[in-house]
Amino acid sequence: MSEFSCIVMAAGKGTRMKTPLPKVVHPVAGRPMIERVLRAVQGAGAGEVRVVVGFGEEMVRAVVEPMGAYCFKQKEQRGTADAVRSAEPETLPGEIMILNGDHPLLEVADIKRIRERFRDSKAALAVVTCEVPEPGGLGRVVRSGGKLRAIVEAKDAGPDVLKIREINTGIYVVKANVLKDLLPRISNKNAQGEYYLTDLIGLAVEKNLNVEGILAEPRVGMGVNNQAELAEATAMAFRRKAAALMENGVMMMAPDSVFIEDTVEVGAASMIYPNVFLRGRTKLGASCVVETGSVLTDAVVADGVHIKAGCYVQEARVSAGVEMGPYAHLRPGTEIGQDCKVGNFVEMKKVKFGKGAKASHLTYLGDAEIGENTNIGCGTITCNYAADRKKYVTKIGKDVFVGSDSQFVAPVTVGDGAVIGSGSTITKDVPAGALAVARAKQFIKENYVPAAPKKKD
Ligand code: UD1
Ligand code: MG
Repeated sequence: MSEFSCIVMAAGKGTRMKTPLPKVVHPVAGRPMIERVLRAVQGAGAGEVRVVVGFGEEMVRAVVEPMGAYCFKQKEQRGTADAVRSAEPETLPGEIMILNGDHPLLEVADIKRIRERFRDSKAALAVVTCEVPEPGGLGRVVRSGGKLRAIVEAKDAGPDVLKIREINTGIYVVKANVLKDLLPRISNKNAQGEYYLTDLIGLAVEKNLNVEGILAEPRVGMGVNNQAELAEATAMAFRRKAAALMENGVMMMAPDSVFIEDTVEVGAASMIYPNVFLRGRTKLGASCVVETGSVLTDAVVADGVHIKAGCYVQEARVSAGVEMGPYAHLRPGTEIGQDCKVGNFVEMKKVKFGKGAKASHLTYLGDAEIGENTNIGCGTITCNYAADRKKYVTKIGKDVFVGSDSQFVAPVTVGDGAVIGSGSTITKDVPAGALAVARAKQFIKENYVPAAPKKKD
């Protein structure tokens, strides 16, 4: 077992969030808070990670267990020291970091820095603190002669202690043997009748152990307790990602209104307009333009693609040089070939759209293969969903010309180079090079409209 392990406290409901979800699964810039905490500690080399679960246990497990963490149930929420006891810390060796699951802005570098400071100070126990303008209900750090003496919870504090602006972030590093010795000694004789983990500090000081307060920047201590703080953390996470991308040559007109999740990659010289969302495993190539109102989720987009305003792209692949939108909708399983044009109000689902093909206006293509350089006219529809409630495939070859307002009743195949007359409803296969017209013939009835009666004077 690694000599550095973590206990993450996440049993609380987070009443002030006012939602039915456990607090730590609320998303910050697309990822659950606790996933972010786990990524930070695991990235900094934590071996075993134990998560204390309670309220909404199943939802928390669903996030942390796939990441390799172990869950320990706290049966009743009797305070932070009781939470740590539930995680059976006596079975962990070396150095243990204890932290809250609601610190979504923690980064790998923060955890590494805290560990270094802990080691350099040769402390038995360290508490990460920070100075805040409005400490509110947070635990106050009491020092004398610069040395950390105790942490006093706001509810137990007198007026002098309440004035202190250095607060406990809820992040601790402690030697396993020290924790094993002190944890059982914590009582619940305080204003809230809870077992406070913060009592470790006073107990360690009494034993003349070396206790260190590690002062960190406010971001490290930022815990989320309500929706306003969740929004603040989310904004900070998006801003951080935008800054990192700009550092690598991505262009943004208004970085504060660009929403790109951590997991997304964007190539240099791409321009992101305001109010763009790039989510999940999206990869956007170099020298692309993504205009306002576009949302890309798990999309893979090659270089030099122009995505005009209002496009919605999900689990689709787009090759280099494509021009898309405004208002195009690419749904899962769609692959757009090089230099294609997907125009306004075009929806595609599970479509292979060959190199150089065009669907410039108002079209639905679903479960279809479209060959290279084929032109799909305005208002074309593949009728993929049949009365038997099954989906069928439309195959259209290369260099086909599909006239406007045509329907393809799948399953149906059109050979290379064929021409489909405008307004056709194609129900039978069309051979290569053929013309297919499937619409009522136009007839003319002359003098059909009676002559207008002559106006009387
Ligand atoms: C705690 C600290 C306080 C610090 C603050 C920082 C104590 C006594 N106080 O206060 O000094 O300034 O964090 O945010 O530790 N939890 C459990 N089981 C429990 C109780 C809590 O798992 O029985 C979890 C919560 O889900 C949460 C974390 O522990 O993730 C902190 O609990 P919370 O009740 O928010 O503690 P605070 O009162 O904020
Ligand atoms: Mg709290």
